[in-house]
Amino acid sequence: MSEERKLCVVTGSSSGIGAATARLYAKNGWNVVINYSRAAAPAEAVADECRAFGAEALVVKANVADDADCRRLGAAVEARFGRADVLVNNAGTTRFVPAQQLEGLQAQDFHDIYAVNVIGAYQMVRALQPLLQASGHGGIVNISSIASMMGRGSSLAYMASKGALNALTIGLARALGPAIRVNAIAPGLVETPWLQQGLGAERYAANVVGYKQIAALDAVIAPEDVADAAWFLGACAPKTTGEVLLLDAGLRLTRG
Ligand SMILES: NC(=O)c1ccc[n+]([C@@H]2O[C@H](COP(=O)([O-])OP(=O)(O)OC[C@H]3O[C@@H](n4cnc5c(N)ncnc54)[C@H](OP(=O)(O)O)[C@@H]3O)[C@@H](O)[C@H]2O)c1
Repeated sequence: MSEERKLCVVTGSSSGIGAATARLYAKNGWNVVINYSRAAAPAEAVADECRAFGAEALVVKANVADDADCRRLGAAVEARFGRADVLVNNAGTTRFVPAQQLEGLQAQDFHDIYAVNVIGAYQMVRALQPLLQASGHGGIVNISSIASMMGRGSSLAYMASKGALNALTIGLARALGPAIRVNAIAPGLVETPWLQQGLGAERYAANVVGYKQIAALDAVIAPEDVADAAWFLGACAPKTTGEVLLLDAGLRLTRG
């Protein structure tokens, strides 16, 4: 039974969107790889939640910005499962710098953010490509951001990195088809520690209120909403590739 299960690798899955995605794949009968770069305990907790659904869950510490780590993760997946069917490139980083403060953002910030958000995704695809190809129905889902489309977000470097990730998604979809589909999700404000820690409690609460006032659906996004989309694009949607799905509860429609 266990060897018949498909495998989903989710980077940055010790928290937030990545954790919700790993839980959903496990709940739907898949085995999962949980990845993190700093804190082991939350990753182990997510793995236990996945195991409670009957999944095999492998926890791998790896910084996606480090190619040797990505290749080590790929080797661990091959050794343990011998397959990979879906890769969700979710690990991300940013700096919170108001866009007007051009002096607040240095070249090194761009390098650091691109290293995780763009190059990290590329390195993970490269490390898992042989297994995804062998799957026969491989899927890659890149977690982008509404910031790539709206010109609003934690910093200009972050917005640019997610725009680059969108372009990478389309290029990889063309390059890796027909064996592997490649899509992206661009969420709006998602209720995870990311913004809560980055903005602080007060500004975060104000952002949630402001977002709901504008969004047509009067809502922000839950991590589980993004997981649903990552399931659809990764495990279903056999004719969808090169798509960047805006998941914003209708923010772009500016209610009122
Ligand atoms: N929250 C939002 O409003 C929002 C909106 C749009 C898009 N996104 C995108 O969604 C993704 C996940 O965000 P989230 O809100 O779920 O954040 P989160 O709750 O802070 O989770 C981030 C996860 O990524 C891991 N991580 C960070 N850097 C890593 C690295 N270099 N290598 C491997 N793992 C790493 C973290 O674990 P460690 O700290 O242990 O490494 C953690 O598991 C990001 O790509 C973000 O840009 C978020």
